[in-house]
Amino acid sequence: MSEIKLEPPKKLFIKTYGCQMNVYDSERMAESLEGYVQTDRADDADMILLNTCHIREKAAEKVYSELGRLKPLKELNPDLKIGVTGCVAQAEGAEIMRRQPAVDLVVGPQSYHRLPQMEARVRKGLTALDTDFPEEDKFEHLKGRKKMQRAPAAFLTVQEGCDKFCAFCVVPYTRGAEVSRPADKIIREAQELVERGVREVTLLGQNVNAYHGGMTLAELIRALGRVDGLERIRYTTSHPNDMDDDLIAAHADTPKLMPYLHLPVQSGSDRILKRMNRSHTAESYLRLIERIRAVRPDIMMSGDFIVGFPEETEADFQATMDLVAQVNYGYAYSFKYSTRPGTPASERPQVDPVEADERLQRLQALISRQQYAIQESMVGRDLSVLVEKAGRNAGQMLGKSEYLHSVHIDNATAQIGDVVRVRCTRAMTNSLTAVEI
Ligand code: SAH
Ligand code: SF4
Ligand code: F3S
Repeated sequence: MSEIKLEPPKKLFIKTYGCQMNVYDSERMAESLEGYVQTDRADDADMILLNTCHIREKAAEKVYSELGRLKPLKELNPDLKIGVTGCVAQAEGAEIMRRQPAVDLVVGPQSYHRLPQMEARVRKGLTALDTDFPEEDKFEHLKGRKKMQRAPAAFLTVQEGCDKFCAFCVVPYTRGAEVSRPADKIIREAQELVERGVREVTLLGQNVNAYHGGMTLAELIRALGRVDGLERIRYTTSHPNDMDDDLIAAHADTPKLMPYLHLPVQSGSDRILKRMNRSHTAESYLRLIERIRAVRPDIMMSGDFIVGFPEETEADFQATMDLVAQVNYGYAYSFKYSTRPGTPASERPQVDPVEADERLQRLQALISRQQYAIQESMVGRDLSVLVEKAGRNAGQMLGKSEYLHSVHIDNATAQIGDVVRVRCTRAMTNSLTAVEI
C-alpha cells in the first residue's frame, strides 16, 4: 500500500493598497493560487503579495518602504517569495526588482491569470515579470469564486481601464484601455456570490458608467435587480460625461439600486477643468446633479477633488469651494495634486505646496461641516441597514444604510446579512446610532 503524503498548504499574505478594484483583484488572486491558505501575518507567510496603487507619489513610495521592511523576513524563511502586483507593478515593471532585489515577482493588473505559472517559476528560484496588456480576458482564465461563505457586501468588477486621460492621472496607463466584461458572466458571478451569503454588490469600474458589455450599465443594473436574494446594488466610479438619461432613470425605477452616487468632478473652475482635460464644465456637472435629484431627491452625493492642480489660482479654488457648497455632499474626498511622471500635467507650472496645503485644509473643513450636517439630519429618520458584523458593544450590530452611512444598531435582534428598518437616534463624526423599528 502506498502512503499518500499531503503537503501542508503554503501561506499567502496579501496587502492591498489603493482603490476597491484592488480589493476585488486581491480576492481573485488569492483564489487563483492553488495550495495556499491566506494568513493575516506577513511573518508567517511563504508568499507575500503587495497589491499596489500608483495614483499619488506617496502611495507609490509606501510600497518601497514596505518592501524594505519585508526583506529581512527572507532571512528567517528562505522559502519566502515576495511579489508586487497592481498599478505600481504596471508602471515600474523591472525597475522594482532593480530597486529592491528581494522581489521575486512583478505582475501588472491585466495579467493576473498568469499568476499560477509565475508562482511555479519563482518556486524554482527564478524571477517572474509580466506587465503585458494581453488580448484575452483575465477573468475568463482566473479560477471561479471558491465555495466559501462570504460577507454580505461584495465588490464585483464589471469594467476596467480608462480612455479619458485626465491630465493628472496615471490610471489610463496602469489599467489600460476601457474593457467591459460580458453581462452574462457578471450576472452569473452575482448569482454565485448570492449563493454564498452576499446581499449587496458594488459594481466596479474606473469608468463604470461607460460599461458596454452587451448591455448598458442601466440595463445590467436592472438585470441584476431580478437576481433573487440580491437586495442591494451600487456602482462606482462614474464619470459625469457617461451619466446618461437611462442610468438616471434606473435610480427611480430600480428599488434595489441604492440612493448613493460617487460622481467625481475634481474642480469647480472651468479654466482648471479644461486644463485637466475633463471635457465637462462646473455648470454641466451641477445641471446633471439637478437632473438626478429630480428623479431621486434623496440621493446621497459623493465626489473627489484635487486642489493645487498646476496653475490653480485662489479664484479657481474659490470656484471649487462654491461648487461644494452648492452640491452639499454626503461624502467627498479631496487630495493635494501629486505630480505623476509621464502625465501631461506634470510639465505644467506647479502651485506652491504651502499654498496647496492651505487650500486643502480649507476644502476639507467645508466638506467635514457638510458631511456632519447631513449625518445630523438623519437623526429621527428611518433608514434601512444591511447588517455586516457585530458591533463593539454587547448587543450591538454594525451595518450600512442605503446612503452608505455606517450604522450601529443598539440591542439588535437582526443577524448578519439581514436588511432591517431602523430609526436613527444619534449622529457621530463617522457613524450613526440607531434602534430597530
Ligand atoms: N476612476 C476613478 C478614480 C480615479 S483615482 C475616477 O475617475 O474618478 C481617484 C481619485 O484620485 C480621482 O478622482 C482624483 O481625485 C484623485 N487623483 C487622481 N490622480 C491624482 C493626482 N495626480 N494627484 C492627486 N489626486 C489624484
Ligand atoms: Fe483617471 Fe480621469 Fe480616467 Fe478617472 S476618468 S481614471 S481620473 S483619467
Ligand atoms: Fe490606485 Fe490603480 Fe486603483 S493607481 S486608485 S490602484 S486603479
